[in-house]
Amino acid sequence: MTDKKIFIFDTTLRDGEQVPGCKLNTKEKIQLALQLEALGVDIIEAGFPISSPGDFTSVNEVAKIIKNATVCGLTRAVQKDIEVAAEALKPAARPRIHTGIGSSDIHIKYKFNTTREDILERAAKATKWAKNFVDDVEFFAEDAGRADIEFLARLIETVIAAGATVVNIPDTTGYCLPHQYGEKIAYLYNNVPNIDKAIISCHCHNDLGLATANSIAGAIAGARQIECTINGIGERAGNTSLEEVVMVIKQHTATLGLYTDVRTEMLNPISQLVSDTMRVPVQPNKAVVGSNAFSHSSGIHQDGFLKESTTYEIMRPEEVGAAGSKIVLTARSGRSALAHRLRILGYDFDRDAVDVLYQQFLQVADSKKEVEDTDLVQLAEAYNKAAVTV
Ligand code: KIV
Ligand code: ZN
Repeated sequence: MTDKKIFIFDTTLRDGEQVPGCKLNTKEKIQLALQLEALGVDIIEAGFPISSPGDFTSVNEVAKIIKNATVCGLTRAVQKDIEVAAEALKPAARPRIHTGIGSSDIHIKYKFNTTREDILERAAKATKWAKNFVDDVEFFAEDAGRADIEFLARLIETVIAAGATVVNIPDTTGYCLPHQYGEKIAYLYNNVPNIDKAIISCHCHNDLGLATANSIAGAIAGARQIECTINGIGERAGNTSLEEVVMVIKQHTATLGLYTDVRTEMLNPISQLVSDTMRVPVQPNKAVVGSNAFSHSSGIHQDGFLKESTTYEIMRPEEVGAAGSKIVLTARSGRSALAHRLRILGYDFDRDAVDVLYQQFLQVADSKKEVEDTDLVQLAEAYNKAAVTV
């Protein structure tokens, strides 16, 4: 576990695109892939080539245009899927086939109606088949979050012996608690005899809001790849948010000793691009990229923030490409925020004047969600006019 780099595997164009109504065409996938490459992600999962002719073309076009990142295509553990993915990935400078099968007893029984032994056989066969086309083969053990740990370890050992270079341990249903997911990764790290021949990858879903915490727990336990999407977009409640894991790793570099190659100042612009392209708004309170991530509206916070920004901000907005910090004036704001905003608008009132204006401001604020600059100008002008008249 000496290498401290966390490889960022972006699956916005595959798992992210599985959101109903978010399907991307080839042009959109190319545009996003180029931005993801510029962002510094290590792997771009461009799609699921056998799923439709359009997605085959998208993966193929992304494979042609991306030069630095690895381009990956998803398959089931099915020979035809793998052949089609290999064909789509042919032009890639660094192609990766991502194949896999269910690993939990629930999936083995209800999805595949088969046995654990048969799953081991199919997994090895698919991995070996993929190796005929590319060196870099990632294997996913679907629903590993709920799989029996000893069987999971056997499955992982089997696919590494068959040539897998990356082993993906998905918490497909977002079920695990962070310590459980971390223990799962640690168990594999310590008990799979050939684990040193592969990178362990975390792929966490957000059904209980734990995807980021689980991915970080996995990295602490020895995983060196995290699979994630911009804005955490994805099936159901989504995937691990790229911007969250990247900033957790950056903010806690001294504690975790880990790093990524992501250019964090591109996080907000790419979040907006993905939101616009997929027509999915970003929730205002979303960590790192929400419109309120650097807004301060209560009087106590505003007062502290205006004295020293680090009282209420653990990262600078520029560091993540956000427009800047905002002081939002509401009925919960205080005098210092009001005086600050008035100064920005060109009104330098003394303390007594601010006291008077503050009472008038509260009346306006109680009748509105947010007080605008035009409201403040009206108040300030009326105050000045009254002072001249007196
Ligand atoms: O959530 C999941 O298990 C997946 C696999 C296909 C990797 O998306
Ligand atoms: Zn997934």
